[in-house]
Amino acid sequence: MVKELRTIWWSKNNVFIIDQRLLPYRVKYLKIRDHKQMAKAIKDMAIRGAPAIGVAAAMGLALAVVNAKTENKEVLMEKLERAAEIIRSTRPTAVNLFWAIDRILSIARTASSGRELREKVLSEALRMAEEDIEINKKIGENGSRLINDGDKILTHCNAGALATVGYGTALGVIRSAYNQGKKISVYASETRPRLQGARLTAWELVKEGIPVKLITDNMASFLMQRREITKVIVGADRIIAKTGHVINKIGTLTHAISAKYYNIPFIVAAPFSSIDFKHTIDEVVIEERDVREVLYINNVRIAPRGVEAINPAFDITPPDLISYIVTERGIYKPEDLGRVAEETQ
Ligand code: MRU
Repeated sequence: MVKELRTIWWSKNNVFIIDQRLLPYRVKYLKIRDHKQMAKAIKDMAIRGAPAIGVAAAMGLALAVVNAKTENKEVLMEKLERAAEIIRSTRPTAVNLFWAIDRILSIARTASSGRELREKVLSEALRMAEEDIEINKKIGENGSRLINDGDKILTHCNAGALATVGYGTALGVIRSAYNQGKKISVYASETRPRLQGARLTAWELVKEGIPVKLITDNMASFLMQRREITKVIVGADRIIAKTGHVINKIGTLTHAISAKYYNIPFIVAAPFSSIDFKHTIDEVVIEERDVREVLYINNVRIAPRGVEAINPAFDITPPDLISYIVTERGIYKPEDLGRVAEETQ
């Protein structure tokens, strides 16, 4: 039995994270001492994946108040709000980041003293971390009902333990089905430009002995045509409740279009904290990252000097391409999500 992977934890008023930029070559833990270091770790993608950056944001806020040298409630609240602004500005697309910050700020506002504020913020951040693992196991259990013996499953990017506190969402479904004894195998698409599929998903699955083959992103539709892929499962950075649009790693849309063409179920697995109840799809900011991520691989330039590049980090899959959205509360059709989400919120 492989020891369960944990991405982030709190210890003696510091936070430790696995530095995902170094995987699969090195497993190194980063010690995060304050909210500014946490903001940098999120922005530079030492920690990444929507649920993981939500918990990282919450723990970053906890660091801001736990280490503050004052007992004054108003001063602590000001420090917390300033730290929240810094962490908010790190990455714009995954809604979990904003959900986590709002949850921490609203619990802090209920405190009646500085000491209580500190305690409440810290215990909420720790609770969110533990909840995340429980939620993912529930998503795994629910989603495994959609997986059949013999399925060959394509996944994109990394929606695994590394993208969460532990267990994963899309990979959580795969883990659950595998642990139930279903004979399944996985295709991991490499996920250019940052290669989360090659570096992280392949690493997690190999470590656990779950059969996995790495493919480049452009191989998927050919494999679907040959019926070598029978299901697609991905995570989400944001799901728009009103319309069922799913925002996820760039390349997800291409897989969804191919899956629709070849009549292959396309499944999204995500916690309720990835559902955006407030915004429409037109209001979402798609992160644009440094074009050097496209022009270079491992610091080696792969394109001629003078060529321009673009680097949108996420794309938008419309609801008519999505077969199911699996959450900790159950399995939904994208068109039903708005109503169900409003009812169960
Ligand atoms: O840019 P990243 O690596 O943070 O993007 C991650 C993804 O797109 C994941 O698929 C998504 O966050 C879901 S993780 C459970």
